[in-house]
Amino acid sequence: MTLHWTRTAQDGAARAGVLHTAHGTVETPVFMPVGTAGTVKAMTADAVRATGARMVLGNTYHLMLRPGAERVARLGGLHRMMDWHGPILTDSGGFQVMSLSELRSMDEDGVTFRSHLDGSRHRLTPERSVEIQRLLGADVTMCLDECTPFPATEEQAAQSMRLSMRWAKRCREAFVARPGHGLFGIVQGSTYPALRAESVAALTGIGFEGYAVGGLAVGEGQAAMFDVLDVTVPLLTQAAPRYLMGVGTPADLVGAVRRGIDMFDCVIPTRSGRTGRAYTSRGVLNLRNARHADDARPLDPGCGCPACTRHSRAYLHHLIKAEEMLGPMLLTWHNIAYFQDLMRGLRGAILEGRLEAHAAAVEAGWAAGDG
Ligand code: GUN
Ligand code: ZN
Repeated sequence: MTLHWTRTAQDGAARAGVLHTAHGTVETPVFMPVGTAGTVKAMTADAVRATGARMVLGNTYHLMLRPGAERVARLGGLHRMMDWHGPILTDSGGFQVMSLSELRSMDEDGVTFRSHLDGSRHRLTPERSVEIQRLLGADVTMCLDECTPFPATEEQAAQSMRLSMRWAKRCREAFVARPGHGLFGIVQGSTYPALRAESVAALTGIGFEGYAVGGLAVGEGQAAMFDVLDVTVPLLTQAAPRYLMGVGTPADLVGAVRRGIDMFDCVIPTRSGRTGRAYTSRGVLNLRNARHADDARPLDPGCGCPACTRHSRAYLHHLIKAEEMLGPMLLTWHNIAYFQDLMRGLRGAILEGRLEAHAAAVEAGWAAGDG
């Protein structure tokens, strides 16, 4: 059977479920740490698993440039190469081509770009993106799309979205069905409700194993993002998983789960771990700040990660100030563990029909601060 998702509970618009993949099952709502270049930065695969994470994201764009998709395949695929034996979702490359590469040029057939690493010329088409993701061994393959820049006029957003829909059809035709593997379509349409609806209709007509909402967290702000979810998610089938790409902060995750999103990925926990920021049940802490220099308390007393159970805020502050590698390692571990704890709490609350009260309590904790 192809990759599929079963719903186990519903609480308002929020759902709990189980995603069945070739590399095991994953409970949703799920947060996927980002493993862009074949590694969740600063973490071993065992450490990622110890945080509670069960599914990670990889990137077509980075891996096609280095070490190369065919080489990854020769090395036994991405799972074996990075020693991650749970499910992997790979992004299709379009988003990173636009944000990272130089001198890109788009046409109906695909996109030509220069590598941000060495300036070499590459081409990505819907067919090649799907092939690369097969070579990597992705459990979930994403359609090649254009993440419409923000802001865009309705005319620009329509042209961009319709190209993504034509590419989605080509991705569906190029995708080779295998047990436990699936292809997700990506809804575009910027902040225009009519375009989001047209995009959902186009993708639903083609038919996918899951539906992503793309083109968000690109500068529109949380209120506009939630407005887009409010008009888009109700149009998506209840029978398939919904994935909000590139989102977000803990508050974004709670708001999107309440609106019916099942899957997330974001660099926030890993990137902010490397810059000294910690997400906790009492809000965000900047460990660079001198106020932590003599603080013997744990980062988050409720957290079971090594940064919290074995070390003080003072030590973490010292490591970050001294630019020791262990600082980013411990803070990344903590941040991923916090995001996993947050998602586990949301799943449990949905299963028990108490999501609204749970979300309010979580938000009250952030607002209370860490004293
Ligand atoms: N990551 C964040 N947003 C997007 C998007 O719109 N498309 C793709 N492919 N990846 C994303
Ligand atoms: Zn911790």
